[in-house]
Amino acid sequence: MTPLVRRRARELARAATLLEAGERLALRAAAGQATIARAPRTAQYLRQQARQEAAHARVFAGVAAFLAPAGGLAHPAGPLLAAYRARVDRDLDAGDLWSSMVGVQVALEALGRAVLEEVQASLARHLPVLAPLHRVLSGQEAAHHAFGVRCVRQALESGDFPAARLRAARGDYRVLAGGLLAASVEMLGESPAPYAARFEALLPAWFTDPS
Ligand SMILES: [Fe+2]
Ligand SMILES: [Fe+2]
Repeated sequence: MTPLVRRRARELARAATLLEAGERLALRAAAGQATIARAPRTAQYLRQQARQEAAHARVFAGVAAFLAPAGGLAHPAGPLLAAYRARVDRDLDAGDLWSSMVGVQVALEALGRAVLEEVQASLARHLPVLAPLHRVLSGQEAAHHAFGVRCVRQALESGDFPAARLRAARGDYRVLAGGLLAASVEMLGESPAPYAARFEALLPAWFTDPS
């Protein structure tokens, strides 16, 4: 390997490590949500999501190990992911499924679709063997996002999720997701503005509406 190729491999390995950490956050959240969901079909979907996130995490762990066998690659989003996880844990500990869905299936999955898909696509361009997997993963993430948007909207409409709790959740998660977005885009070496716009466009009106 030339030094340039070795450096590129390390950059991609760092991106894969970030993706793995994001998948682990989604896995932990979906598994926790499945234990507090009251509707059996919702719990069943969340268990399935947790299995998919676990598979996604294994894919990126494998990619990172392949590209940087020595391991130990830090990525810049570690503390931000930890803060995000702590906020999700607070919702789960309170048995607040809908707030946790605002954070995970709605905001985090939108962030994934707006930014991490680009990181994945970059990985797939460099490692074409990943391209079919990338398509499967993207389809699953889009389904998780649509599921969360639908569940939270129904909970708002039925009154099961009061507007005051929605406001608190979306305020916190907007700040957390914004920080994560900026750190992830920095890894791509690009300007955050188009990614932030894409992220906003993926959010439902009840998330972006300031009322
Ligand atoms: Fe995932
Ligand atoms: Fe997901």
